[in-house]
Amino acid sequence: VPDTAPLTRRTPIPIASIAWDADAPVIIDQRRLPDDLVHWRLDTVDAVVEAIRTLAVRGAPAIGIAGGYGMVVGLDETGGSEIGPGEREALASILDSLAGRLESARPTAVNLSMAVRRVHRAAAVQVDGPTARAAALAEATALEVEDRASCAAIAANGRVALAGARRLLTHCNTGRLATAGDGTALGIVYAMDAAGELDEVLACEARPLLQGARLTAWELGQAGVPYRLIVDSAAGAAMAHGLVDAVVVGCDRVAANGDTANKVGTYNLAVLARHHGIPFWIAGPHTSFDLDTPDGTAIVVEERDPEEVRTARGHRLAPADAPAWNPAFDVTPAALVAGYITDVGILRPPFGSELRAGTRDLTTASTGASL
Ligand code: MRU
Repeated sequence: VPDTAPLTRRTPIPIASIAWDADAPVIIDQRRLPDDLVHWRLDTVDAVVEAIRTLAVRGAPAIGIAGGYGMVVGLDETGGSEIGPGEREALASILDSLAGRLESARPTAVNLSMAVRRVHRAAAVQVDGPTARAAALAEATALEVEDRASCAAIAANGRVALAGARRLLTHCNTGRLATAGDGTALGIVYAMDAAGELDEVLACEARPLLQGARLTAWELGQAGVPYRLIVDSAAGAAMAHGLVDAVVVGCDRVAANGDTANKVGTYNLAVLARHHGIPFWIAGPHTSFDLDTPDGTAIVVEERDPEEVRTARGHRLAPADAPAWNPAFDVTPAALVAGYITDVGILRPPFGSELRAGTRDLTTASTGASL
């Protein structure tokens, strides 16, 4: 059987993980990759919530944007967009209820609640439904536009942080599918590759849902970036064999002290990297930093259906009644992190003004604290 799925050719195709199109967001249904590239129009709030829960749209920045657009969909669906000027309480109650439904779709990535609250705030100060709807759409669109700029700034800062590291190891999917732009950790990979600074990326498969195998391998293949896929448990051997100059991964929530939640298996990589003297970097937008969460113990880690562990893409791997534990994320202690490559600079805790000034003009972002 030829080892060539229809979509693993090296012809770049445009990847818009999420885009607003005539009254609804349209996403790439990531559950179907790499076999099929299909889009899903999310024209109800239930659809937006389901898409986020089932990882049809996934990655911290992308679910934030989906949540933002979900507020607009919800205003239309509930009639909130048509509420008159005398009914601001009704509008407020619709906005509260929509925000609650969308925020609770997934708990760990802070981008989701930050984005939903931002859109809620923009809509709630308007006088009536039509202006609230317009403000919500403008704010959600701004989230998407800002995320693209943010990815570009992370890539630029990442090239500085990772200068000289030609062989990278990464985890999960942090690229064009996970963001509105080129990605966070993977955005750095694309930028280094374009600049001739990259020899190879090792991509961990990211069991149980295989975001590395299904999505990162697909993305990098589309873009012609040199990569090899490894099973998660080969990461230690790869480091011991001298195949890794630096590890760079994304983040779902960075606590005020730098403890970082990311795809389960990230912590293992950080411990291995420390043992081998390899720098371990976190890459992410300032919107993934949660200064209200003091440390990693306060981060809510999503636990998913144990069936995801017993199966792989619908195939049973284990006895149907095997007890299983399925945390979607783990928390890497700040002490294992070389630094945080963000859109507002290369940071180390304690984080300060760079992050608090979250709405600043991202085009002025530059590398911050020296390492
Ligand atoms: O469960 P997922 O696929 O949404 O997990 C995604 C990750 O852990 C990513 O590393 C993180 O969201 C950063 S994406 C730029």
